Amino acid sequence: MSLSLADCIHLDAADPAHTDLAAAAECFDPGTPGTLYFDANSIGPMPRSAPQKMQSVLHAGWAQARRRSWNELDWLAQPRALGASIAHLIGAEADDVRVGDSTSVNQYKLLRYALSVAAPRRVIVLERQVFPSNRYVAECIAHDRLADLRFISDISELPAALAPGDVAVVALSHVDYRSSTRLDMAALAPMMEQAGALSLWDLSHSAGAVAVALRACKADLAVGCGYKYLCGGPGAPAFVYVHPRWADAAWPAIGGWMGHADTFAFEPDYRPGQGLDRLLVGTPAALANVAFSAAAEIWRGVDPQAMDSRHRSLTNTLIALFEEQCGDSGLRLSSPRDHAQRGGHVALQFAGAAPLAQALVAHGVVVSSRKPDALRWGVHPLTTTHRQLWQAVQILRDLLQSGAWQDPRFAQASV
Ligand SMILES: Cc1ncc(COP(=O)(O)O)c(C=O)c1O
Repeated sequence: MSLSLADCIHLDAADPAHTDLAAAAECFDPGTPGTLYFDANSIGPMPRSAPQKMQSVLHAGWAQARRRSWNELDWLAQPRALGASIAHLIGAEADDVRVGDSTSVNQYKLLRYALSVAAPRRVIVLERQVFPSNRYVAECIAHDRLADLRFISDISELPAALAPGDVAVVALSHVDYRSSTRLDMAALAPMMEQAGALSLWDLSHSAGAVAVALRACKADLAVGCGYKYLCGGPGAPAFVYVHPRWADAAWPAIGGWMGHADTFAFEPDYRPGQGLDRLLVGTPAALANVAFSAAAEIWRGVDPQAMDSRHRSLTNTLIALFEEQCGDSGLRLSSPRDHAQRGGHVALQFAGAAPLAQALVAHGVVVSSRKPDALRWGVHPLTTTHRQLWQAVQILRDLLQSGAWQDPRFAQASV
């Protein structure tokens, strides 16, 4: 039997995880009234407390306290404090995670770190279709003759890529940015360990959407975006994770003063900081970190299993609605059906994905598309409701049935 609006409303009320998460959901700004947001895979919702926090840091911190803020406020402690607040979401301990720099920069830092740890091995295994920035970073390392690259087209090729016994690190997207396919970390990380290679996971499309178990899987290294599901704000700093067995194992590729063993001693020579602190580089982005701290406060109270089960309910409902309401419109589900194999968003394959996404946005449904034909629906486990899914799919169905999405005004490319 097909899902009705009443069923969706009932799911919002009955979902046991929803009760636990309701308080967290209330902490977010709902955005423009009438707009339905499915862009958490790109930029997550804003915590209601963020504007007040920003006002306060601008006035009390920047305008008034000025340089005294570094002592009087928590600006220097933020990279560690923010990391500790989100660690449970990715199955890490508080001290395993730091926040700072961008995902691309952290990818560079960790690839170089892995190459140092695993020397004299020098092969980086990469997915051919990885998020381009991760590939570019690795190509530049290889261009400097610091590594050799070996590409796999599909995860089934990993055993063969590991077989020569020369792999230093395997860099994988935990969740594919187009299809939302989630790799089986519990099965793959031990495979890499057995082959003597480190595993480096990009969690950008899983952290803050589904529960991740880095420590339990014995994953070695991870990075991820702060501005997507984690709701750190536009351009928020990224996070970096190192399993404690490697935290003191090598020098960092970029030895900045914030990663020095005694930053304010201003010693002439570099000494790596304690553990993961060595991966810090320069002055923390205090304003961006204050914005991130609004979400971090919320995340501290979120049970990752409750978050995961609510995300499962939401995305399963969304897939059912797509198939029931738009099944005959040429849309094809490109994400896996099993939630355990899916990340934060649900992707549909549609030849006119880009203009359809534009049409949806113009009708108040904020989705995104990726070339050549992916239509992405980023579902946030704290703020998306089943009722919103129903409303959005009605708009999708109307656009498809009327053909209105083919209007020339939706043909212009957008980000
Ligand atoms: C999977 C993945 N990795 C890396 C990045 C790049 O992140 P940053 O811009 O923080 O370097 C993105 C950006 O969307 C991404 O989706």
